[in-house]
Amino acid sequence: MRSNNPPPPLHLFGRDEYVRKITDSIASKVPLGLGARLVIGGPGGIGKTSVALKIFYLPELDALIPPRARFFVPCQAVTTASTFLSAISSSLGVEIAADNPLESMLRRLRAERGPMMLVLDNAESFWMNGEVQPRARAILRHVCNINSVTLLITIRGTEQPDVATWDPLPLLGPLGIEDARNAFLAIANTVQPSASLDLLLKKVDCVPLAVNLLGRRCQISGEDPIILSERWEKEHTRLLRLGDRNPEDNIDVSIKLSLDSERMNIAALRLLSIVSYLPAGIPDEAWNSLTFPDSDLSAQNSSSDACP
Ligand SMILES: Nc1ncnc2c1ncn2[C@@H]1O[C@H](COP(=O)(O)OP(=O)(O)O)[C@@H](O)[C@H]1O
Ligand SMILES: [Mg+2]
Repeated sequence: MRSNNPPPPLHLFGRDEYVRKITDSIASKVPLGLGARLVIGGPGGIGKTSVALKIFYLPELDALIPPRARFFVPCQAVTTASTFLSAISSSLGVEIAADNPLESMLRRLRAERGPMMLVLDNAESFWMNGEVQPRARAILRHVCNINSVTLLITIRGTEQPDVATWDPLPLLGPLGIEDARNAFLAIANTVQPSASLDLLLKKVDCVPLAVNLLGRRCQISGEDPIILSERWEKEHTRLLRLGDRNPEDNIDVSIKLSLDSERMNIAALRLLSIVSYLPAGIPDEAWNSLTFPDSDLSAQNSSSDACP
């Protein structure tokens, strides 16, 4: 493992069961000489990268996949097939051969005698890009053809790239109230647990990024949960802006990344605009009447109308 990998998560509340599902998959495959194939999907800020990093550094896996055979590939800057290949090659420490970069990368993977782990973080950057996707599909199918490789990807949304038979793993969801409270108090450590704190956390649906930003805001400014709740009612996501560029400092940046995705068509945007007014999402029974049939989606996609 290289020191320029992102560090392990500082806090990871409420993800023990999810982490166990992943380690169980790995433990059921690797001793048979097979690699696990895992997708951590879910919205921005829900904690996908944090779980992936937890797995990447997990000492309990050392006996199955040694730390020196684990590779973490941050993909958020990937915009082309060649930058995708370079990102993987650079994590593997492979010199990028001008003649056949794919072959040199695959040769490096095949040369590893024992099990190895490849983590691709932010897979949406290559998968949701219509120009890059076909090439990324070919690259990943080659990678998945190598049994010794355990592949773990994180991706915004619900799509599982059609490059492997993925092991079952649910989408990552929000934290329970207790874990959200513990996550908040780990940051704002002079605050006492209270009903108003729980109310505040429920207002942001216990989404880890929002909980984290509220905790930091409270720690920095000393505003208590009641004041923060009132401000949330008035300012919404503007309250959760601690910096301008980094998605980890700004929930608007994180949401904008999702809105900018090529998959965000007009119908999906309209649906999202409705859902965003409902703090706890929408009830299951209302879902069918709000979603659009596929035929509507393709009609909406090809229409040049502006957003509603
Ligand atoms: N389970 C958790 N407990 C505490 N903090 C968390 C948890 N999951 C994520 N976070 C924090 O929330 C923020 C967003 O998490 P991240 O893993 O980057 O989300 P994603 O990759 O889904 O966009 C980060 O600041 C992270 O430290
Ligand atoms: Mg992430």
